[in-house]
Amino acid sequence: MDAPIRLATVADARALAELRYEFRASIAQPTEEREAFVARTERWMTDRLRVPGPWYCWVAEREDVIVGNLWMQLIEKVPNPIPEQECHAYITNVYVRPAARGGIGERLLEAAIATAREARVDAVILWPTEQSRSLYARHGFAVRGDLLEAVLDSERIVAPQREGGESVT
Ligand SMILES: CC(C)(COP(=O)(O)OP(=O)(O)OC[C@H]1O[C@@H](n2cnc3c(N)ncnc32)[C@H](O)[C@@H]1OP(=O)(O)O)[C@@H](O)C(=O)NCCC(=O)NCCS
Repeated sequence: MDAPIRLATVADARALAELRYEFRASIAQPTEEREAFVARTERWMTDRLRVPGPWYCWVAEREDVIVGNLWMQLIEKVPNPIPEQECHAYITNVYVRPAARGGIGERLLEAAIATAREARVDAVILWPTEQSRSLYARHGFAVRGDLLEAVLDSERIVAPQREGGESVT
């Protein structure tokens, strides 16, 4: 069954907040009560979907129900006098409901990459889950030897990709 991809609007904020809870609660036991989390996330998403950029969200819909989403933030660089593009992009919260999986993730990713190209993005970054690495690899994502990351949150349950570990998204 087809699931068209479109940009999210403010009207989607509640459904997207619920989807965010579903995704994260599938990874670890939440410490925040569902309704409180959904309410604050709906406000957060409403504020970001209200304006064009720096946040973008694509959704996949089936029979008027959102079954997947992907968020991307454009990150400005300091202006550059040399020939180098002036923003990066960060992809996060990539999630498709289990029953809808099979092709939607790739189409969400392609929509984001197309927009990043139009926005003249330099590099797109993300932290993959172990299982999703092949999806990103097919679209040009690779481990970079010159990228440094300092993890400051020692309490984080779902840690960034480490040897044999899970990752944060
Ligand atoms: C990742 C995800 C969005 C892909 O959605 P999808 O519609 O199945 O994607 P596609 O069919 O277009 O692409 C298939 C690829 O998805 C990835 N994938 C498949 N099942 C997955 C799973 N349970 N968890 C994570 N990634 C998965 C694989 O890379 C797969 O490629 P492969 O066939 O070479 O193994 C979806 O599986 C998901 O929501 N997983 C849980 C959340 C997650 O891991 N998100 C990624 C965080 S960066």
